[in-house]
Amino acid sequence: MLTLVTGTTGQVGRRFVPRLLAQRRPGEEVRVLVRDASRGEPFAELGAQVVVGDLRDTEALGKAVAGADAVVNVAASFRGVPDEEAWAVNRDAAVELGRAAQAAGVQRFVQVSTGLVYGVGRGRPLTEDDESRPGGAMWGAYPESKAEAERELLALDGLDVRVGRLPFVYGEGDPHLAQSLMWAGNWAATQRLHMGHHVDVAQGLLRILNAPGVAGRVYNIADDAPVTAVELHQLNGVEIPEELYSRTDPDPWVAITSTERIRRDLGYRPVYPSVYAARDAGAL
Ligand SMILES: NC(=O)c1ccc[n+]([C@@H]2O[C@H](COP(=O)([O-])OP(=O)(O)OC[C@H]3O[C@@H](n4cnc5c(N)ncnc54)[C@H](OP(=O)(O)O)[C@@H]3O)[C@@H](O)[C@H]2O)c1
Repeated sequence: MLTLVTGTTGQVGRRFVPRLLAQRRPGEEVRVLVRDASRGEPFAELGAQVVVGDLRDTEALGKAVAGADAVVNVAASFRGVPDEEAWAVNRDAAVELGRAAQAAGVQRFVQVSTGLVYGVGRGRPLTEDDESRPGGAMWGAYPESKAEAERELLALDGLDVRVGRLPFVYGEGDPHLAQSLMWAGNWAATQRLHMGHHVDVAQGLLRILNAPGVAGRVYNIADDAPVTAVELHQLNGVEIPEELYSRTDPDPWVAITSTERIRRDLGYRPVYPSVYAARDAGAL
């Protein structure tokens, strides 16, 4: 059993791979695709195979999937990149990777996606059967390209595709929690962010990867306690700007997801049900 993981130099991937390696049984191997050979070295030291290449290069995709049994596509381009790059990596390259996996006889393909694909809120936690509804403050090339990638991958004939939709991911030194203030500083006081700790994101993805008989299934991954803009300031030790209290939350349910399905189907239960549990455990 050989599992290829992309996006392993990123915030999620670099914390996921050591956990995937740690649960290996004898004979199981992990391969990572990195763009820069020197950034593959830490993974080689942990026992992973390393393939160097860009996700947009079809030749590199062929090398990456050769002999693989499973693929976890963590890679994405969304932090301050032009829209064309978001589309090229998040949709086009992800779908090409799916096609390459299909051609190479890969048995399982886990697509890492985002809870932003739902678009506007529905007045209740979003469930995996909710269709994507474009719009809302967080809509743009990133969620749209991820939503299209999901649709195109799930439509590939004969490939067992599963999707994990992540919340706002934090923990283990990831600067993301501090970066949340870039948005939360412009929010209403009560506006909420649904989060998930790296431990639980890895837990969710591993459960999705390892579960038998869930081809075509989509799963939300998140914790139990979305936090408000006020709490995000407090957690970061930053004074709460007075303007927050004069604003109204335009959509209180945007990107707030239900984790009922992954709990019921796959036995997921967050180790850190809230960011406070993670903080108190020293896991921020
Ligand atoms: N972090 C979150 O809060 C969050 C929330 C929801 C969903 N997600 C999803 O989780 C996944 C990982 O997110 P992240 O936060 O870890 O992102 P990240 O820190 O920006 O990492 C992105 C990864 O993708 C790789 N990558 C980008 N373009 C590539 C290309 N053309 N070829 C090969 N590799 C490429 C990057 O490689 P380089 O290091 O070479 O750039 C890096 O390893 C993404 O699919 C994202 O949509 C994340």
